[in-house]
Amino acid sequence: MDGGGAVAYIPIMKTIAILTSGGDAPGMNAAIRAVTRSALGREINVFGVRGGWQGLIDDRFMALNARDVGGIIQIGGTFLGSARSAEFRTEEGRSKALRNLCARGIDALVVIGGNGSQSGSAELHAMGFPVVGVASTIDNDLYGTDVTIGCDTAINVTVEAIDHLRTTGSSHTRAFLVETMGRDCGYLAMMAGLAGGAEVISVPESEVPAEEIARRLRAAYERGKTHAIVVIAEGVAENAARILSYFERHRGVVGFELRATTLGHVVRGAPPTAFDRLLATRLGVAALMSLADGVAGVLVGEQRGEITRTPLAEIANRTKPISTDLIELARVLAQ
Ligand code: F6P
Repeated sequence: MDGGGAVAYIPIMKTIAILTSGGDAPGMNAAIRAVTRSALGREINVFGVRGGWQGLIDDRFMALNARDVGGIIQIGGTFLGSARSAEFRTEEGRSKALRNLCARGIDALVVIGGNGSQSGSAELHAMGFPVVGVASTIDNDLYGTDVTIGCDTAINVTVEAIDHLRTTGSSHTRAFLVETMGRDCGYLAMMAGLAGGAEVISVPESEVPAEEIARRLRAAYERGKTHAIVVIAEGVAENAARILSYFERHRGVVGFELRATTLGHVVRGAPPTAFDRLLATRLGVAALMSLADGVAGVLVGEQRGEITRTPLAEIANRTKPISTDLIELARVLAQ
């Protein structure tokens, strides 16, 4: 482990709290279950915080026992609830949260979430409270981990949608623009596009202009294809609606008839895949292990197949760039 910035503290841990924050992600429930049960196995009391950072400010705690986290491993979302809290971004909000943790006798906090959430973890940890982060977001843009809880499920939902759209596209000789989530990161769109055999994939890291999309679709049409799929990440400047309007202004340019589908939150709410359940379980247990080892102020993630701990101070306000290999792969395959 790279220990710079992480804070070791005396591991007399009697009570911990868990919260889920930011956009929910399939597998969060499995992570809550793993943290809770591994803590209870060490005779550590567990509280869940309802509604993310805002719930911490509003003192919304609930005691968790082994049965409370039963029957949830297969359910998407988070049974603790989540939120994006503007108040926690203020010093006053964070002080209130800290006061509530101390008043409840909580020794450490586990935060399951993505970028914004883990920046919050870094801030609270810097105030002297032991926090461990668990990497979870469908965007997979979190620094300090190769993979995040929820991303695999979101890719699979997007691929399933692509498969369905290709079927109907084939019947009608249509091209579909499919827009998926990912915020400013193209990972989700890129992986779904590759797995779905898309003709064009446009991501913020390598945006394909409308004229170029038109050229590639026209070429596919002239090669006799009966369908074509264009996967678009939500973070690009020319999103599906804009590209569609470009094609409406240049009728007939692509050959295919065109339709656009924006998947939006549909990709976030599915039951977690086995991969996400297992990742969540491993990272949840690893978070508790880190605290038991006396190491807080870190994000637990997975890098090159190994569980890793990266200092929160290193990951805060940073994002992980999409690999250039993937961009090259998409270019080669788009023929
Ligand atoms: O970060 C997860 C994510 O689903 C992004 O892909 C998307 O841009 C954003 O959250 C949507 O946020 P909200 O649920 O607040 O609309």
